[in-house]
Amino acid sequence: MSSRRRRKVIAGNWKMNMTPGAAKELITDIYSKVKGKKGCDVVVCVPYVDIPTVAQVVKGTIIKVGAQNVHFADKGAYTGEISASMLKECGVQYVIIGHSERRQYFGETDETVNLRTKAALDAGLTAIVCVGELLSERESGITAEVVSRQTKLALQNVPAEQMANVIIAYEPVWAIGTGKTATNEEADEVCGIIRSVVSQKYGKQVGKQLIVQYGGSMNAKNAAGLLAMENIDGGLIGGASLKAEDFNVIVEAAQ
Ligand code: 13P
Repeated sequence: MSSRRRRKVIAGNWKMNMTPGAAKELITDIYSKVKGKKGCDVVVCVPYVDIPTVAQVVKGTIIKVGAQNVHFADKGAYTGEISASMLKECGVQYVIIGHSERRQYFGETDETVNLRTKAALDAGLTAIVCVGELLSERESGITAEVVSRQTKLALQNVPAEQMANVIIAYEPVWAIGTGKTATNEEADEVCGIIRSVVSQKYGKQVGKQLIVQYGGSMNAKNAAGLLAMENIDGGLIGGASLKAEDFNVIVEAAQ
């Protein structure tokens, strides 16, 4: 690895949880616990309707606000969608793209993931692009192939200059919300494969600097082990990000 150590990024994905009132309480609690911990970047990816409330509470603090999706057009007749410029104006800096729940339930494809990634980057957002294999794919021994393909397609026509604003989150689908985590070694191996795909496309330096997160049942107990691995530069955390104390322990593990 480069002598310049990659900064860790701990991102909560609240998914479809927390009304604005509940969001205010949770983010206030999270802030009171993580404040002063400057050793990693802390992001909360919240439902759209919670963005104004959360952005107001974390303004000027170490916590950054993220969204959970973005449309690829800047504006127009796309009922129910939200554009990157709308997110920017509300104080959003990060956006999750291509989460497996969107691929599974909402028809997200490698192509739309690519379009959304480009729109996010063009607007100056940091894109947290999710990739990961299904259980059947792992069992068939094609994890590397699946994750490499998803990574390459997500980054089609993304120029090297924008790669500093790309994070790839490796989220094995079988580990999400199941309490089953990849072992530290399994997770590290796939994160390393993702890094090498990016190195092949953009050169070694870009690959070395790429932030690769692990997601899938990361929690207060297993975070330290995962985050100590060479190729894992942070976490994308679902369930445990809804509990301020657990999220704080994970942030601490990344210091
Ligand atoms: P869990 O941490 O609840 O398994 O969710 C992971 C995830 O999907 C984060 O995006």
